[in-house]
Amino acid sequence: MEFSFFLPTRIVFGCKAIQRVGTLAKEEGATFAQKNDVDFLVAVGGGSSMDTGKAIAGMLGHHTTDFSVIQYPNEYTQESYPLICIPTTAGTGSEVSTCGVVTDEKTKTKVFCFDPRCHARIAVCDPEVLMGVPEKIAAATALDALTHAIEGFVAKCTNPVTECYGIRAVKLISENIRDYVYNRNAKNCEAVMLGSLFAGISFGYSDTCAVHSLSETIGGEYDTPHGVANAIFLANVTEFSIPGNVRKYAEIARAMGIENKGTERELCEELIKALRQLVNDLAIPSFRELSGVKQEDFERLAEKCAVHLSAADNPRSVTYDDFLKILNKTYEEQ
Ligand SMILES: [Fe+2]
Repeated sequence: MEFSFFLPTRIVFGCKAIQRVGTLAKEEGATFAQKNDVDFLVAVGGGSSMDTGKAIAGMLGHHTTDFSVIQYPNEYTQESYPLICIPTTAGTGSEVSTCGVVTDEKTKTKVFCFDPRCHARIAVCDPEVLMGVPEKIAAATALDALTHAIEGFVAKCTNPVTECYGIRAVKLISENIRDYVYNRNAKNCEAVMLGSLFAGISFGYSDTCAVHSLSETIGGEYDTPHGVANAIFLANVTEFSIPGNVRKYAEIARAMGIENKGTERELCEELIKALRQLVNDLAIPSFRELSGVKQEDFERLAEKCAVHLSAADNPRSVTYDDFLKILNKTYEEQ
C-alpha cells in the first residue's frame, strides 16, 4: 500500500474571537503586500478569503503579482510567504488544506493553486466566531464541510489517514448540523468547526469528487455560493456514485447514524434519502431557483465538469453524459 501524508499546519483551537477587517483581490493584495514589504499574512474569513490569502502568499513567495505563475498545474518552486488562516465559517477546511480556489473573472472558471507549499503555517480556529453566522450561511457552509468529508473518504486517491479524518468528520458534522443551524450553542459550534477541519485534512490530502466538479463549475458560471451548489448536487451524485464503492457509502450511512436493516445496498438507499432530507431540512434552494441558471447552458457546463480536476477521483467513473444527466435530473426536481 502506498500513500503519503503530512500535516505542516499548526492548529490553534479555541482562542478568543477576532473580527474580520476586510479582504483584497489576489493581485491587488500581492501588489499591496510587496509595496509595503510585509513579513507575513493573516487571512480572516471563509473559504474565499483564506484561498485568496493562499494565492497572495504563493505569489509573494515567487516574487510575482501574476497568479498564473503558481496556477495549477504549475508546481511551486518557492515556499509561500508565512500565512495565518483564521476561519470565520465552518465549511471550507481551507485553513488546513494545500489548495486555494479562486475565480478567474475573464473565463468565469474556478482556478487553483495546489501544492504542498500552498498551506497556511498556522490555523487559528475559534468556534465562538460561529455563534454570529447567519442561518443560511451556516447551513450552506456546513453542507460544504459534509461534502468534503464524504468525498475525502470515498475519493479514488484517498488513503488510510484521510479516510480516518473523513469518516470522523462525517460523524461529527451529521450529528450536529441541524442543531448548529437552528439551535446553535458552543458545543455544536465546536463540533462542526472540528468536523470542518477534519474534513479539510481529509479532502486536502486526497481530493474532492464529482460533487465539487459540479459545484465549482456552477460557482464559476453563476457565482452560486459554493456550499449551496454542493448541497444541491450531493444526493444525486451520491446516488450515481454508490455502485463505485457500496461498502464505503454504507460506512458513511452508519457514521450518520442510519440504521442498517438489510443489505449494504439497502443501507445506501437510506443514505440517499437521508441526504435529500437533510438538504431539504436546511432550506437549501433548488437548482432551478438559482439566479441565472438556464438549461441550454448544461451541455457546456457538462463539458467543463468532465475535465474538472476532481472528476477523475470520483469512486465511479463519470463522463460528460453522466454530468449532463445529473444536471438535467437535478434541474427537473423541485
Ligand atoms: Fe468545498
